[in-house]
Amino acid sequence: MINIPGVISQEKGLKSELLLVKGLTVDFETFDKKIEVLKDVSLKIERGEVVTIVGESGSGKSTLAQAIIGVLDTPPAFVKRGEIYFDGVRIFPTDGKRVKFRGTGINMVFQEPLVSLNPVYTIRKQLLEAAEIGGIPEKGGEREKVIKNTLTELMIRDVERVLNSYPHQLSGGMRQRAAIAMAVIQRPKLVILDEPTTGLDLIVQRKIMGLLLNLRREINTSLLIITHDLAVAANMADRIYVMYAGRIVESGTRGDIIKDPLHPYSLMLRDSVPTGYKESGPLKVTEGAPPDMSALPTGCPFHPRCPNVMDICRKNVPPLKNIGDVREVACWLYEK
Ligand SMILES: Nc1ncnc2c1ncn2[C@@H]1O[C@H](COP(=O)(O)OP(=O)(O)O)[C@@H](O)[C@H]1O
Ligand SMILES: [Mg+2]
Repeated sequence: MINIPGVISQEKGLKSELLLVKGLTVDFETFDKKIEVLKDVSLKIERGEVVTIVGESGSGKSTLAQAIIGVLDTPPAFVKRGEIYFDGVRIFPTDGKRVKFRGTGINMVFQEPLVSLNPVYTIRKQLLEAAEIGGIPEKGGEREKVIKNTLTELMIRDVERVLNSYPHQLSGGMRQRAAIAMAVIQRPKLVILDEPTTGLDLIVQRKIMGLLLNLRREINTSLLIITHDLAVAANMADRIYVMYAGRIVESGTRGDIIKDPLHPYSLMLRDSVPTGYKESGPLKVTEGAPPDMSALPTGCPFHPRCPNVMDICRKNVPPLKNIGDVREVACWLYEK
């Protein structure tokens, strides 16, 4: 069998998924310490699927997203193990070859929107380029029209001023919307959004989500939404992955995770969501502090905060086990 580097032939287990991450393990190594920030993370996204990764700040979400698109800084980050496939092609490891994403592949909106934008070009120039990548024809001013419509849909009123501005001349919220517009206009197969709605008001958040869901309807774009806020996931995810201390601790459909969370950490997140996803009772604040990745306890990393902690939890890390078709959980409560 001829093996073309970076291109999979009949890789076992790869079906129709658009994105497949297998066993990704990432360390951060600084002069005085080594932190395992991602530990054996596996996930998949089907074509047209909306997947959310939810977890507290510091749990490794941004590291995961950056690893997927290959922009982790080495050092300090080192990918120790794992494979990543996108659209039938192995994009990590690539045997030394750099994978170029064309605009229509994966598009990421970074947590810090300035990273997504080029500082030396106006927003108009950048969006026109995005429209070109997205295959929007130039004639009849079609690109300009699409750009203006998109910005208007994102509730930007002074479209002309925004288009004529450089990124640093805009407020954080405007930059974030410009970065989202750029991703959408390129019409990619997958958009990764890292905390896309943090700091934006609710109406704008809804508009952004509406725009993204339209893209899915039109061209079957998949979305990977990264958030610390389960309410965001509850609104639009088909499936949810719950992350804790660099590991997936539970995954399932939105219904599974919102209505019937199995992992005590998922339950804690669910009960801190302010609108009626639970039968009754007062709103709970998540208890305990997020874990310090450089000093994780032995056993299950969640055990110091867990109301159901047992002896075994202090000693051994629970494996992530399949429960049913699309559901996984890593918790000793569910080990027979
Ligand atoms: N540049 C860095 N150098 C060393 N450690 C880092 C660096 N960036 C992130 N980390 C470590 O990685 C962990 C996960 O960070 P991150 O992926 O940004 O989490 P999240 O996006 O979930 O808030 C942090 O808790 C921190 O310990
Ligand atoms: Mg982050």
